[in-house]
Amino acid sequence: MSLYLKPEHVLQGGYCNATLRKLQEPNTSIQTHNVMYPVFLLENDDAIQPVSSMPNVYRYGVNQLIPALADLVKKGLESILVFGIIETLPKDANGSHADSDSNPVMRALPKLKAAFPGLVVACDVCLCPYTSHGHCGVLQPTGVIDHAASVKRIAEVALSYAMSGADIVAPSDMMDNRIKAIKEALFSTNLGNKVSVLSYSCKFASSMYGPFRETMKSAPLAGDRKCYQLPPGAAGLAARAAARDVAEGADLLMVKPGLPYLDIVRQTKDLHPHHPLFVYQVSGEYAMISRSGDNNEMETTLMEMLLCMRRAGADCIITYFAPLVLDIISKRTAH
Ligand code: PBG
Ligand code: ZN
Repeated sequence: MSLYLKPEHVLQGGYCNATLRKLQEPNTSIQTHNVMYPVFLLENDDAIQPVSSMPNVYRYGVNQLIPALADLVKKGLESILVFGIIETLPKDANGSHADSDSNPVMRALPKLKAAFPGLVVACDVCLCPYTSHGHCGVLQPTGVIDHAASVKRIAEVALSYAMSGADIVAPSDMMDNRIKAIKEALFSTNLGNKVSVLSYSCKFASSMYGPFRETMKSAPLAGDRKCYQLPPGAAGLAARAAARDVAEGADLLMVKPGLPYLDIVRQTKDLHPHHPLFVYQVSGEYAMISRSGDNNEMETTLMEMLLCMRRAGADCIITYFAPLVLDIISKRTAH
């Protein structure tokens, strides 16, 4: 026998066919419940606008969104994450239109639930699309975040969405203690057992949100978000933030962005194995993958990235590619 070939070190026999390969990749399959589709909702119900920074992504008024979703629900779409955009309604210091009667999300929720009773509708909860200063919380006169006022306002908005029919409220603002305030608000209105709280628990101050902020017109007027979103190298803060949100009653956790943060995904899953973990494949990741080659290369790259997120511990991936993923899943099951 060759000096170098040791039978006990031969691994290839263990993955030499497709069935064995599947067994070697446990918990990495991508099914319809493993993806959530983020959608942008406009104030004008009949409008539809392409997003220039994100190929194949549109902003919809509710009358356009419903037919677009109908097609996807037929293909198996199980959940969406709704972002509201205002263009003519005024923005102010407290983000009053985040949950006013004219807010597009508030108006669309009953229509979405009526059109798709089985679709899980999550609402992003944040002030930045609605504040004049573009920050995710309420500010003190000095420009620093007013913690108490922010948490109070965020919980109010979350409760408004929940009362209008949201199945999940997802605060992306990163204000300390908002999970407790939201859970209390839901509990005190008897919605505690009907609405889940998906905490953007480990959200980093990333440079990969650019296309999203352009789409939402939600970039801060002055300053940045480094005093509330986590520093990209801070794995320790991410662990503490997730533990704090779990202690405050978060039902579901999130890591955002996805790909460069898979160590945080694994860390969060290991520390909180009993909480479903969401990963947000953000707009900058979408922009990169969209430009990664021809359709075929892009699809295989995308599916590999999703698989790696699952391997790292993600249960559900929030992705603008959800329509494409549903097509890939149906092609696969048609065989
Ligand atoms: C705002 C919010 C952002 C994203 C989701 N909610 C941007 C930000 O925090 O600056 C980013 C999503 C994406 O880039 O796809 N609270
Ligand atoms: Zn925000």
